[in-house]
Amino acid sequence: MTTPLKLAVIPGDGTGQEVTDQALRILDAVAPGHGISVDATRFGYGGEHYLRTGEVITDEQVDELRGFDAIMLGAVGHPDVKPGVLEKGLLLKLRFQLDQYINLRPVKLYPGVDTPLAGKTPEDIDFVCVRENTEDLYCGNGGRARVGTAQEISTQEMIATRFGVERCVRYAFELAKTRPRKHLTLVHKTNVLTHCGGTWFDTFSEIAAGYPDVETGYHHVDACCMYMATKPEAYDVIVVPNMFGDIITDLGAAVAGGMGIAASGNLNPDRSANSVSMFEPVHGSSPDIAGQNKANPLAAIDSLAMLLRETGRVKTEDVLIRAGDAVATAVQAVTPKFTGKRLDRSGYGTDEIGAMVLDALG
Ligand code: NAD
Ligand code: IPM
Ligand code: MN
Repeated sequence: MTTPLKLAVIPGDGTGQEVTDQALRILDAVAPGHGISVDATRFGYGGEHYLRTGEVITDEQVDELRGFDAIMLGAVGHPDVKPGVLEKGLLLKLRFQLDQYINLRPVKLYPGVDTPLAGKTPEDIDFVCVRENTEDLYCGNGGRARVGTAQEISTQEMIATRFGVERCVRYAFELAKTRPRKHLTLVHKTNVLTHCGGTWFDTFSEIAAGYPDVETGYHHVDACCMYMATKPEAYDVIVVPNMFGDIITDLGAAVAGGMGIAASGNLNPDRSANSVSMFEPVHGSSPDIAGQNKANPLAAIDSLAMLLRETGRVKTEDVLIRAGDAVATAVQAVTPKFTGKRLDRSGYGTDEIGAMVLDALG
């Protein structure tokens, strides 16, 4: 008996395409051994598609994706397309319309990978950021008027709803409960953003009462950046609103060795609203190295590991979880080859690193 996996693949732009090719190569290798039959459909959304058609992705095309078990995304961003068109028109549209309310971003120092933090080891850098993924400054509320005049005015509003905060915080507590340390830190800026910060802090405190086994903490986001660079061992699970989460997870990627390893998932854990989760590296389309076989595909491959595990959890299919574990183990078996090298400019080719992971899979 085989387990079907119906996958939508959106390679996107630049290095997004190169790293996605490697992730698919790993999937092709790992699936048969676990009795998984992959049915992958490629969608050409991204910069080229937009320049050709004038469309990014339509509502109907988003709805079509609901029929898949999971989405694998490379990255979007094209040098000839104005900033925001693809980022908001594709990536954020998918996150919002598919109600992927959790952005799960592990920060983990793998064996052999150099961290820029002197003296820190894999034991010190092992935490998970749970970033709220549907609200906050990302809603786009606001506008710009009298553009180009001395009277120009622009506003962009931060939004927190009790519903949105609660489901995110609850997910973070559930996650913290499953980890050995059982520690959860709320990161916000309650000393200035007293309205949204108040909603987050009150909701967090109320939900905490239902999780007596989970130890909690609170850090302002500026202090969090400082601690992440000086004592990352302070963190186990972090829960954070969208905008601050975007910023601290780039810092997290840097602390764990670089963008070449940072994986992420945009999850709808309960598949509400007939949703589907989407997995992507944290990095963008990297026009500075696109087309040069320089991008490290480990972030995309580790995102594939997360895709398999999370889809397995939703479908309650152990074979998917085991295949995800196998991919994650192969990634960690490869990272010692980066000892003494930079993870993101290692000198290894994109395809060469893909081959190293294939080898490790056996
Ligand atoms: P970026 O992540 O693409 O690149 C930042 C730096 O990290 C670059 O120097 C790049 O070469 C390096 N880098 C990133 N990933 C790497 C990898 N796998 N291997 C080796 N080096 C890697 O971010 P940016 O330059 O700020 O943005 C480029 C474009 O991507 C923009 O259009 C931006 O909007 C878009 N973007 C998209 C996503 C996404 O689709 N999820 C995320 C971030 C940025
Ligand atoms: C990320 C990216 C996106 C974000 C952009 C491209 C919309 O930076 O996935 O971290 O801000 O969430
Ligand atoms: Mn980002």
